[in-house]
Amino acid sequence: MDKDRESREITGLRERLTDAAEQGLARHVAVATEWFPMGLPHLVSRRERGARESQPVADGVSSALVVNLLTEDNLPAYHLALWRTFGDRGVWGEWLRLWTAEEGRHAIALRDYVSTAGLVDVFELERLRMAHVRCAFEPAFVPQMLDGLVYLTIQELATRIAHRNTGELIGEPTAETLMTRISMDENLHHVFYRDLVTAAFDFAPSATMAAVARQVTSFVMPGWDIPGFRVLARQIASAGVYDLEIHLRDVLHPLLLRRWNVFGLVGLSAEAEGSREVLAAFRARMDRLVRRRALRRTEDGVPAGMARTPRAS
Ligand SMILES: [Fe+2]
Ligand SMILES: [Fe+2]
Repeated sequence: MDKDRESREITGLRERLTDAAEQGLARHVAVATEWFPMGLPHLVSRRERGARESQPVADGVSSALVVNLLTEDNLPAYHLALWRTFGDRGVWGEWLRLWTAEEGRHAIALRDYVSTAGLVDVFELERLRMAHVRCAFEPAFVPQMLDGLVYLTIQELATRIAHRNTGELIGEPTAETLMTRISMDENLHHVFYRDLVTAAFDFAPSATMAAVARQVTSFVMPGWDIPGFRVLARQIASAGVYDLEIHLRDVLHPLLLRRWNVFGLVGLSAEAEGSREVLAAFRARMDRLVRRRALRRTEDGVPAGMARTPRAS
């Protein structure tokens, strides 16, 4: 019965979201500004001086740089995943092509920086790029549209924060300028997907709740299949670039509690109520885990990176 309701809710989903997608695309085009990977002032002056001005950084910061860049490099896999999920017709195709062009700029800009900064072994980086792009990666949401929109909402915001924190932690103006610029693009991508999920909650609350529960509880950052990712992720967490605390505080809580109000929605199917319970239990478990880790750090007297508060959005 409930399954029938969710199926009814998502019948014609693409068509029902088309108006919201057109509005989102028009807003994106109106606010996104042109920028040139090779033209950021700090990069230009660095090239002109031929200087390597970067100071050594923590392992977690250089690992973040590597993971951020490899993830951007793997754009062909993401492009294909979005093509399979949203199709290439009308506003969906228009958005996909624009998004792809903007994401492509991120890899160009980051590689330009990395090749002059001397912070990572560029030969090892190239080996990792070859290995990563050759993986037959496909995100778990393909081809479910609602799941894709939820995953991308979370992922774009998480990526925005990871880029911004990496730039800050490198601690030099070139990196900060570049990564702030990239994170502005990621934020606009996030807003596009987030508002589509918000629109879907209006006419398909039960199906959307189920998709949110599935994607929140199974979420992994892009790049999880990079060779050695677990070690890199631990380093990235201890440097304070991105970890569970940041994920909860700056990504999940603002979306679930403020933007979508998932625990205040009424009129859900029994099955969607079950999804919401799963979500509540997951949130409680993650909150406990974060508190336990914070307590352990306090007891150890270690001001770990995860305790830092990123700059307000
Ligand atoms: Fe990107
Ligand atoms: Fe993005």
